[in-house]
Amino acid sequence: MAQLEGKVAVVTGAAQGIGRAIADGLAAEGARIVVADLRGAEEAATAYADGVGLTVDVSDEAQVARLVDETLARCGGLDVLVNNAGLYASLQMRSFTEIPLREWRQVMDVNVASMFLTCRAAVPAMRERGGGAIVNISSGTPFRGVPFLLHYVTSKGAIVAFTRALAKELGRDGIRVNCVAPGFTMSDGVKEHPEVIEQLRDVSVAARTIQRDQEPEDVVGAVAYLAGPAASFVTGQTIVIDGGQYFH
Ligand code: NAI
Repeated sequence: MAQLEGKVAVVTGAAQGIGRAIADGLAAEGARIVVADLRGAEEAATAYADGVGLTVDVSDEAQVARLVDETLARCGGLDVLVNNAGLYASLQMRSFTEIPLREWRQVMDVNVASMFLTCRAAVPAMRERGGGAIVNISSGTPFRGVPFLLHYVTSKGAIVAFTRALAKELGRDGIRVNCVAPGFTMSDGVKEHPEVIEQLRDVSVAARTIQRDQEPEDVVGAVAYLAGPAASFVTGQTIVIDGGQYFH
């Protein structure tokens, strides 16, 4: 049975990679999909029945406000928000002493402030529906203390804290806030950077309990579960999906 029939789901960064797999999974559960991405949103949305594609920079306050306004105008409401857009594979791995402040701030803006903006804009609409579900995409890196990406790892740790505190604020509104933390995933963004694959693919696979590549599709089940009625009493939680590399 489709668990998200009649629900409207906004998925950020859904034009490719993990976000696209999540959008596919939520659509398969019956949700109407809004693809919010910097590029390729409208084209990606054509894959879904009544899909809506919106070109949005999720770190920009006015653009995020427009994302929610357009979603409400075109879909009549908003029930599920998946905060997936983020900067990862394009970031150069290097000692924290060599990270420019500008890049640090950009990572915090795109990976963390974006979630503040999308949640702040979307929650009033969820309240109007009597509830909702927010799923934030973190990463296994803060739990493992991965070196040479200090801005990224810090941003992904912040998402876990953000999830817990916001869940407490929104419990009485029937809005659940949870987090999914994937391991190293062979997403489109990663595939665009062979040097990242060279550095991380084999060591990641070797460190897992289930020793194979992680694909974007691997996180979909957890996100669909957290977005749907089976998780109606689950909030503030983080599920690590990494083939048993790290036990959280
Ligand atoms: P990707 O690079 O394949 O896709 C990211 C998507 O987000 C792109 O379509 C891009 O255009 C969009 N995006 C980037 N900045 C944006 C902005 N400011 N506004 C709107 N859209 C924006 O990335 P991937 O690998 O699928 O990652 C997705 C999420 O999963 C990220 O948050 C990443 O940190 C997280 N993650 C990825 C892992 C990996 O190994 N690939 C592991 C753990 C977490």
